Amino acid sequence: MCGIVGYIGHRDAYPIIIKGLQRLEYRGYDSAGIVLFDGVDTHLSKTKGKVEDLKKKSESSISLDGKLGLGHTRWATHGVPNDINSHPHYSNSGDLVIIHNGIIENYESIKKALIKRGYSFESDTDTEVLVNLIEEVKKKEGVKLGKAVQIALNQVVGAYAIAVFDKNKPDEIVVAKLGSPLAIGIGENEYFIASDASPFIEFTNNAVYLEDEEMAIVRIGKEIKLRKIKDDAIAYPDILELQLNLEEIEKGGYDHFMLKEIYEQPRAILDTYRGRLLADQGIIRMAGIDQNLEKFLNANRIIIVACGTSWHAGLVAEYIFEDLARIPVEVEYASEFRYRNPVITENDVLIAISQSGETADTLAAIKLAKEKGAFVFGVCNVVGSSIARETMAGAYTHAGPEIGVASTKAFTTQITVLTLIALKLAHEKGIFSNSKYHEYLTELEGIPAKVQKTLESNALVEHISEIYKDSSNCLYLGRGYNFPVALEGALKLKEISYIHAEGYPAAEMKHGPIALIDEQMPVVVIATKKGHYEKVVSNIQEIKSRSGRIIAVVTEGDKTVKELADHVVEVPETSESLTPLLTTIPLQLLSYHIAVMRGCNVDQPRNLAKSVTVE
Ligand code: F6R
Repeated sequence: MCGIVGYIGHRDAYPIIIKGLQRLEYRGYDSAGIVLFDGVDTHLSKTKGKVEDLKKKSESSISLDGKLGLGHTRWATHGVPNDINSHPHYSNSGDLVIIHNGIIENYESIKKALIKRGYSFESDTDTEVLVNLIEEVKKKEGVKLGKAVQIALNQVVGAYAIAVFDKNKPDEIVVAKLGSPLAIGIGENEYFIASDASPFIEFTNNAVYLEDEEMAIVRIGKEIKLRKIKDDAIAYPDILELQLNLEEIEKGGYDHFMLKEIYEQPRAILDTYRGRLLADQGIIRMAGIDQNLEKFLNANRIIIVACGTSWHAGLVAEYIFEDLARIPVEVEYASEFRYRNPVITENDVLIAISQSGETADTLAAIKLAKEKGAFVFGVCNVVGSSIARETMAGAYTHAGPEIGVASTKAFTTQITVLTLIALKLAHEKGIFSNSKYHEYLTELEGIPAKVQKTLESNALVEHISEIYKDSSNCLYLGRGYNFPVALEGALKLKEISYIHAEGYPAAEMKHGPIALIDEQMPVVVIATKKGHYEKVVSNIQEIKSRSGRIIAVVTEGDKTVKELADHVVEVPETSESLTPLLTTIPLQLLSYHIAVMRGCNVDQPRNLAKSVTVE
């Protein structure tokens, strides 16, 4: 939630910060702000709305000069989205200026104490409280900004990634992190600060990621040293060389990031298994699994924790692990798991799934499982993210940056990684014959081509979308491996088109949802040939006899469902456990087209943010 960008160096800060904010806008987009220091004074511009609104406002109202600046794009937590609550925030003296991503939980008590001591506040934010606390410490203790930040942060409870500077000492920016991500890009005589590397990747590949409870004074001409906020310990950081390139974070001719990312799935799935799946040699090579094989093989059970779409990938994995590797699996919403005093033992393996690697609830669930002695494994997309660092081992999905707020390629690549793990464990346990194992590997290897083929249904799905775009409800049904796909299809539709949608196991329909069915109700049914085909066909008949409108996702060449359904979208045949990788594609396209036709902001749906770093 919230994106932060800072620059200090020899270039004009304004274009770097504005472009950086645009790239981070997926993190929050209800308001934005920028402050620039022109060598004499600071110039501040803030507005409710998008970064584009900030750009227009800034270019007509403030001086854009300055080689030092901070910018912020907000997802409101404290205080409604408006100009005043937008960041950056000044301290009362006007000397200090701050941007903040996170939540200061004890801000009210600090605010009351500061008010008693003569401080006043313009905004409703916790951030304005923090900058004034820093100012008070600085004055009272007579310390430099870095020390004041450190002392103040020891008094706050919550999460933060902050950047703050003093206009009387404009050669440094002080940064600190706990719970929210913060990267420093290192150029020649210049530094970039950002929530992820996308704002600075065109200037430098060298970056340092702060760990929790670390801070740094970013000063021109000085190398980066990290200081522990709690105990003053100093560390020289590892400077990472990033692999990200600019093309990956731009739209590349597509109207929206979401569509680009849907179309990237053949490539993304291939990148996920590249170097890991050697089908012709019958090998699956995954360092994180190879080094911890015994833990997985001896596990009493696997607990999967995740949120949203990643949770749906976890549900698919439950079927895969139990069906193929015969290991019991429980899948939990991370937010529920962390608060329900779960029974966890040293013989449990916990797999945390997260695209962003920053989801606060998932991170908290990991910490809890570690405390209780479980072995914790991460499946993340964002390299170097908090979850990737907090887990004991893991496997990256290698999907590349996912910028559209609705997860698409993250879902299919998570399933790919989890399938690789399950197949490897099944093989190690001797569950399959060699020929069956080879058959699976070869089938998985062929999935990118089948996803590509499935994408050819785009025009048909667009046509179907035109018919149902004005619906106010929609049901999604699936069984077995495709039940989680039904949940995921419904989530995609509701989050980007604001149509109410629910996913159900098809057999559950009779236990309630069938009452909703009438001629107004579109019902998306996943009815591929493998699995419980005949049973799904019966469910389709039940819907048909109540005049429901059926959009069916079927296996190529299917005749039975074609006769019953109003529309069918075909996917190539594959083994049952891999069908979710194909059946989810038409559902992603359906939600995309409907949202576009309804005039919704597909990449930045209302009230959402890509990275949920608050619980
Ligand atoms: C839906 C979506 C969210 C995320 C959820 C978890 O399209 O994107 O439901 O899946 O917020 O995020 P990660 O995977 O980053 O932990």
